[in-house]
Amino acid sequence: MNTSRRVVLGSLGVLAASTNLAASATAETLPGIHQPGIASHSPGQDHTYFAAFDLTTSKRADLVGLFRAWTDASQNLMRGETTDGDSLESLDYAPARLSITFGFGAGLFAADKFGLENSRPPALIDLPRFPGDELDPARTGGDLSVQACADDPQVAFHAVRQLARLANGVATLRWTQTGYVSRPKAAATPRNLMGFKDGTRNVDTTNPAEMARFVWVGNEGPDWMQGGSYLVIRRIRMALEHWDTTKVAFQEQTMGRTKHDGAPIGGHGEFATPDFNATDANGNYKIAETSHVRMAAPEMNNGMKILRRPYSYNDGTNVTAERWPPWREGLEYDAGLVFIAYQRDPRTGFVQIFKKMSRMDMLNQFTTHTGGGLFAIPPGTTRGGYLGQRLLES
Ligand code: HEM
Repeated sequence: MNTSRRVVLGSLGVLAASTNLAASATAETLPGIHQPGIASHSPGQDHTYFAAFDLTTSKRADLVGLFRAWTDASQNLMRGETTDGDSLESLDYAPARLSITFGFGAGLFAADKFGLENSRPPALIDLPRFPGDELDPARTGGDLSVQACADDPQVAFHAVRQLARLANGVATLRWTQTGYVSRPKAAATPRNLMGFKDGTRNVDTTNPAEMARFVWVGNEGPDWMQGGSYLVIRRIRMALEHWDTTKVAFQEQTMGRTKHDGAPIGGHGEFATPDFNATDANGNYKIAETSHVRMAAPEMNNGMKILRRPYSYNDGTNVTAERWPPWREGLEYDAGLVFIAYQRDPRTGFVQIFKKMSRMDMLNQFTTHTGGGLFAIPPGTTRGGYLGQRLLES
């Protein structure tokens, strides 16, 4: 296995090591126990192109054909190879650490479709409506998801575009979302569009015990999901105009961290453990009761963690008109965060954590969730196999 391939496939090496296939000359194309794009790249790639698809067929054979084609094509794409009929906008480009991660939405398990209604995993719930949700149906849900991540935006787009072409007649694009992470100097934590460091405290993807506990589906899940995960995506618009009128001290109180160095309020340095019990002279918590990090932290959520892999998005501006005097019209940024989180079970992960946050988090004054979805991310495929094989052949 050459070094660059080892980097591209990341955790897939686990399978090779455990099944004596490591010596095989073709091991570099080996799919693995986990799909790439979750724990395989550290730091995560700089760009994402996320796409949700709707199935336009109800024939199981079409589905198997699509998943076979997608499996083969994704292997080629991640090696930087082109396929028949390719649009070639990535010809001669490096693979740019491309990863492709496939997911299954609830629609795949609909009663009148593929005979999979009894296989819908209990964890693949219909997400509840949260206070403040303004989810646009045109940016929400989908039967299948594809997330391409790469250090080059065109390589990520190209990958999804080829997969969409291969889906002709079987599935069509429902919605898409681009995102980027802009990297500061050195290996510092990136900042989101609110100007705060984002990613300081997260599940440690290099710690297998933590990944097994919080991210990978274990034997509580159906056989075909074990080694997989669940993806929650939320397109979150930030009211940046409003945010920019607030004082930094207020922003820091909202977040529970300082803006410049990202330290927890009352702590020293970005990586200090937040002290959620510390109080000021008036007896108020230093890290405010309804600050974002306090509400989200595992210390306040029975130890629960989710693996966040967020991207910023910048989709230009929206025209707004006030519905009350003085009836002003204007533009607002359509920019914010593509919140992406992987977890072992969304019922105890995202839903549990966000239920309380969606009502109380001070950050909500500046954020609106405008789209997203929940997808079951099956494990990686076995050699010669295809995406979802264990589900479709069960
Ligand atoms: C636009 C929306 C959001 C922004 C700007 C934002 C920003 C941040 C920032 C700056 C931090 C502190 C740095 C860090 O530890 O990474 C953080 C932490 C965190 N956020 Fe968010 N976040 C957003 C939405 C959400 C949502 C919807 C959730 C849902 C559960 C969430 C969950 C978390 C968690 C779990 C942490 C780590 C807390 C800890 O362990 O200390 N965030 N976020």
